Amino acid sequence: APQTPLRVTRRLGPAETAEAGRLLAQGGLVAFPTETVYGLGADATDPRAVASLYAAKGRPAFNPLIAHASSLSEARRFGAFDADADRLARAFWPGPLTLVVPALDGCAVSDLARSGLPTLALRVPGHPIARAVIEAAGRPIAAPSANRSGRVSPTTAEHVLGDLDGRIDAVLDGGAASVGVESTILACLDGRVRLLRPGGIARDEIERALGRPLDAGSAPAQAPMAPGALASHYAPDAALRLDAESVRPGEALLAFGPEPLPGEGDAVAVINLSPRGDAAEAAARLFGALRALDRRAAVIAVAPIPAAGLGEAIRDRLARAAAPRP
Ligand code: TXA
Ligand code: MG
Repeated sequence: APQTPLRVTRRLGPAETAEAGRLLAQGGLVAFPTETVYGLGADATDPRAVASLYAAKGRPAFNPLIAHASSLSEARRFGAFDADADRLARAFWPGPLTLVVPALDGCAVSDLARSGLPTLALRVPGHPIARAVIEAAGRPIAAPSANRSGRVSPTTAEHVLGDLDGRIDAVLDGGAASVGVESTILACLDGRVRLLRPGGIARDEIERALGRPLDAGSAPAQAPMAPGALASHYAPDAALRLDAESVRPGEALLAFGPEPLPGEGDAVAVINLSPRGDAAEAAARLFGALRALDRRAAVIAVAPIPAAGLGEAIRDRLARAAAPRP
């Protein structure tokens, strides 16, 4: 149903980070680029700002948010880093990695942003505009992907406006996101390191930095039901047919690699995520391609994509997009 616009959404240029920071410090909602996807920022220490963020996204309030900091030393003010968390932060921050660690006593990140959990998700984004905004705001910034809940994550300012124009105060335009899928989430708790969400840093890179394999199991006991667990979290309107060996009449095709699929010539529309079969290139193009094909056909056939490297995160997002809708 159409919503009554609540706010006038301003478009800010990439140099207007001070203005974006000011709006955030005043409790406003500002979308900004990160290297993974565009985030919708709110002051993580201000429960009113966080509540209005949940409202703008239409997001179930039991989902905890990632608190974004401008540096590792800032992040240390909010969470407890054990030796593994410390090693991973040094290896990958700033960058597409989120660490779930115990929240420090008196942690300034509001209970609402944390869903009342004793743990806290922290990330120092790699995109210089994101860090400049957070630094200008002078506080940790809660930032889920800047889309309406249940929609495909945005990788451009135009995607953000398509979902949230009139519901947020500003969008800062920094061009297309370079990684294209959300950050990898690791829980560093109780001496173990577990993968909660595959993302922009591949498993083997993490294991190399850690010096050992990731611990088995996904969510620790105190973990919430992650939006990762909400099956249709990344859903386009079209149905997805995964690992398609051929294209059926009337379908659009999300292709990968140099080999055409049988029936490809008759596809309603084709987007190849990476003709040379490069998973990182495919990740960067994934959400934009899903949005573009969504308007073209009721069913999108998806070519097989190997799980190696960033393929694990791509396959995870595609499986969610293909899952039954509530
Ligand atoms: O790349 C990204 O991570 C993007 C950009 C904007 O930074 N952000 C993003 O946020 O993907 P969001 O809200 O869509 O995903 C946050 C994830 C959720 O799956 C949530 O359940 C999990 O982080 N999370 C947050 N706090 C947690 C905690 N204390 N324990 C376990 N999972 C947590
Ligand atoms: Mg999201």
